[in-house]
Amino acid sequence: MTKKILTIIGTRPNFIKSTLVSKILAKNRIKEVVIHTGQHYDFELSQIFFDELRLECPDAFLKIESGNHGRQTGKMIIEIEKILSSIKPIAVIVYGDTNSTLAGALATAKIPLPLSHIEAGERSFNREAPEEINRIVCDHIATINCCATRRAVSLLKREGINKKVFFTGDIMLDLLLKYKHRAKLPNIKLPDCYIVATIHRAENTDNIEKLKKIILSLGSVEYPIIWPIHPRTQKAIEKNKIKLSKNIKTISPLSYFEMIALQTNSFRIITDSGGIQKEAYWLGIPCVTVLNETSWVQTLKGDWNQLVKDNPMSIKNKLQKIPKGSRDLKEFGDGDAAKNIFKIINDNFFK
Ligand code: UD1
Repeated sequence: MTKKILTIIGTRPNFIKSTLVSKILAKNRIKEVVIHTGQHYDFELSQIFFDELRLECPDAFLKIESGNHGRQTGKMIIEIEKILSSIKPIAVIVYGDTNSTLAGALATAKIPLPLSHIEAGERSFNREAPEEINRIVCDHIATINCCATRRAVSLLKREGINKKVFFTGDIMLDLLLKYKHRAKLPNIKLPDCYIVATIHRAENTDNIEKLKKIILSLGSVEYPIIWPIHPRTQKAIEKNKIKLSKNIKTISPLSYFEMIALQTNSFRIITDSGGIQKEAYWLGIPCVTVLNETSWVQTLKGDWNQLVKDNPMSIKNKLQKIPKGSRDLKEFGDGDAAKNIFKIINDNFFK
């Protein structure tokens, strides 16, 4: 029987992170079975990435959609377990820190099957963020942990995880370097000088007073703000009838190539997304992060990225700061993470 590897994805960042690994597996004729949990289901959060990044259609689509964390994760585990038991892959790959990652990891470890966690070991040390809990659990039950940064390797050591921990570099940096030339601006009228904003993390959108403060703060900025809005945030704004000031233009979520182009051409970036903090740093666009802490502490050096912490009203002031010193992209590897991850998977499961 042909040996198969199985990948579990389900959200926008999962699709982006899995792209180059899936392609290198296919190039080397390794059979990959892909489960899409359906956590993200809108066209702009899911199918658009399969089309644009030319990803193979998933072998199974679970249609789990949204819900409370326990319910969403639990439903995923039930369905993933059925597929793992019937397909019997040689190992399973999960990416990052979403609920789909956690469900995939738990179902795999309970069968049990070997689990590879990509983008392992990152910590923000905020245990109230669902992503932090997902990261911790996945790292501790994984057989192989592939780390995007050397900091992650040492954080795992501190938690007693020493075996099969690899520094591979960041898979998102790889993708950016390989596909940057294909970036294309969205088909909308853009001002010459603008700021890109994205806000979607539960800690900002589920606390309505905080969300109102963030939106008020965005309204105080003197520049036009282009905001590709996540459905979660859109729903919160509509439900609570929050008014946006005139300088803020919300647009539908963008494709990867459009988002990279929009960021590249921007003056500043305001975000609470982990991925966008890194992309801003790699692209050399100063960033303000609307969170109390970040797992990507490397981006904070020289004020390339600044945290607003408990004071969303400080966004305007922080935007004025000019970063000092050069950026160190090497902290995130050499842009060959996919090649490194492939070698680890091949050596461990296919030789
Ligand atoms: C998830 C990840 C987060 C990641 C983000 C990227 C977790 C815990 N969080 O948060 O780390 O940065 O994805 O986008 O997994 N919704 C839609 N349409 C969709 C998808 C979601 O309307 O296509 C709505 C859901 O109905 C729900 C809300 O968005 O009301 C939240 O969805 P959820 O699945 O919790 O994930 P994200 O907030 O996207």
